[in-house]
Amino acid sequence: MNKRAATIDDFDRLYELWLAAGLQLYPKDAEQKRYQDMLSLNPDLAILLIDDEEKVIGSILGAFDGRTASIHRLAIIPELQKQGLGKKLIEYLEDVLREKGIQKVSAQIHVSNPQVLPFYEKLGFQEMTYVRTFFKDL
Ligand SMILES: CC(C)(COP(=O)(O)OP(=O)(O)OC[C@H]1O[C@@H](n2cnc3c(N)ncnc32)[C@H](O)[C@@H]1OP(=O)(O)O)[C@@H](O)C(=O)NCCC(=O)NCCS
Repeated sequence: MNKRAATIDDFDRLYELWLAAGLQLYPKDAEQKRYQDMLSLNPDLAILLIDDEEKVIGSILGAFDGRTASIHRLAIIPELQKQGLGKKLIEYLEDVLREKGIQKVSAQIHVSNPQVLPFYEKLGFQEMTYVRTFFKDL
């Protein structure tokens, strides 16, 4: 088990991983554009877990907007979930963020995925109950 930085070329295998993990995804071309944009803006915050044969078994994409960091596309392949790997990925990202002097990190959880809430709580995240997020398509 090892980690490495994600690259643009990893997109196809990541899309497969995210599908297998049941993440709510955009259509593939839209997802790819967002992946490329995130990587170019946050090249050192996208971390992959790989096994001994270099197969990608987990991903986390971090982003920083100048105020707060956020977690995106956190996924572990289903066969290897609940073995501590998701926790490892979060901790790797937190270490990188701390080294950069970033003091806050957040995660948005889709309402269709309540089963992941205890995972974040276990890792010390607290639910923000006083903010509602608005968005607009441009
Ligand atoms: C969410 C996910 C990344 C967690 O990774 P994981 O490797 O399965 O989780 P870990 O084994 O590292 O769990 C860390 C801790 O959280 C706990 N935990 C994990 N999932 C849990 C759950 N559903 N309910 C309660 N506790 C949970 C574990 O028991 C563990 O606790 P411990 O340290 O006391 O043993 C992984 O399950 C996944 O890919 N899920 C599908 C995709 C997804 O929902 N991604 C998140 C989008 S926001």
